[in-house]
Amino acid sequence: MSEDAGRDLTLRGLIHDLNNVFQTILDAADLLAQDPKWAALAGNIERTAERGHRLSQSISEATRSTFPLGVIADIAIQFARDYLYATKHHPIEFQSDVPASLRIRGNPVAWERILVNLLLNSAQAMPCGGWVKLAAAQEGSKATVRLEDNGPGIPVSILSRIFEPHFSTKPANSGIGLHIVKSLVELDGGAVAAENRPEGGAAFVIEARC
Ligand SMILES: Nc1ncnc2c1ncn2[C@@H]1O[C@H](COP(=O)(O)OP(=O)(O)OP(=O)(O)O)[C@@H](O)[C@H]1O
Ligand SMILES: [Mg+2]
Repeated sequence: MSEDAGRDLTLRGLIHDLNNVFQTILDAADLLAQDPKWAALAGNIERTAERGHRLSQSISEATRSTFPLGVIADIAIQFARDYLYATKHHPIEFQSDVPASLRIRGNPVAWERILVNLLLNSAQAMPCGGWVKLAAAQEGSKATVRLEDNGPGIPVSILSRIFEPHFSTKPANSGIGLHIVKSLVELDGGAVAAENRPEGGAAFVIEARC
């Protein structure tokens, strides 16, 4: 385990135990509130404990470690290449334009899964080959990650449904890839949307925290 990850785990453990303390104070305040004589004081204790709980949550958010997106993007692209080779898929040209300095706040393994799901979707939409471009840019504490392909695009009639679990237009697939993508992105405090490029082809835009 890296030093960063170890520190993260220790901090999360402390925050977890601190939350138990706040929960006990809240429960005790609930008991106190049953006696009308102490109702006002119980309300005061409850609000203060809730504030403590909110503050400890924000420590947990602020201390989650970051990782270099470019490194994870390269790993995801390599896996997509291996997948194409093994499945005898027509070649796809992958391009990555992610600044080396760009770090994302979140879980790198989750992000590898996010990118692999998007890359494979693009490849599967282009059985005769094509290109996929991954680009990312940072603006303050946020990053925008954009994945584009030059496939057929996403039919407008299904655009609002593609993130639903088990929605698929592929006979042999389970249709959970994009649901996984959305869940993992949101777990790290981000958001994902799909659109079609005016020139044709699909685009997925992820807003992430840095
Ligand atoms: N890049 C893309 N171009 C065109 N259509 C896409 C693209 N990405 C996703 N889609 C559409 O969205 C649907 C849902 O995608 P999703 O990844 O959730 O499921 P799937 O790829 O069909 O199955 P699974 O990912 O579980 O193997 C796809 O079936 C396809 O119709
Ligand atoms: Mg998929």
